[in-house]
Amino acid sequence: MSEHITLITGSKEEKYTSLLPQIKALIDGESDVVANLANVSAVLKSAFDFFWVGFYLVKEDQLVLGPFQGTVACTRIAYGRGVCGTAWKEEKPVLVPDVMEFPGHIACSSLSKSEIVIPLIKEGKVWGVLDIDSDLLNDFDETDMKYLSLISTYL
Ligand code: SME
Repeated sequence: MSEHITLITGSKEEKYTSLLPQIKALIDGESDVVANLANVSAVLKSAFDFFWVGFYLVKEDQLVLGPFQGTVACTRIAYGRGVCGTAWKEEKPVLVPDVMEFPGHIACSSLSKSEIVIPLIKEGKVWGVLDIDSDLLNDFDETDMKYLSLISTYL
């Protein structure tokens, strides 16, 4: 396992491309899921300076806050509620350019303006979500969707 991450400057695509093998190396060899989720949230926060990066984990009929980087967040989200609960229910990524336009969005911080949520799926079952918030409107696109979805398969 390598605990050193090199952050490059460049386009979003270039940053993700450089991070992918590094994240893989970081995770490989460590079997503890909390340790890996904690490190992945740290890498994404430091590489992109997103407002909030973290994980919610499926526990019975709710999502419960897991490792994250950012401000204090809501701890429990019901199935189908908010952006996170929607990604869980629909079993696919949800990209929200403007959180004010998303019915049922759960505002953990008034500074959050756009959001992307990627479900974590193993053997056909959602076991958690990766949630990233930005304090900028329309900060996420297909590039984030593509690479974050790929990263989610490493976990
Ligand atoms: N906005 C999310 C809740 C989690 S926080 O953004 C950290 C949602 O609507 O599900």
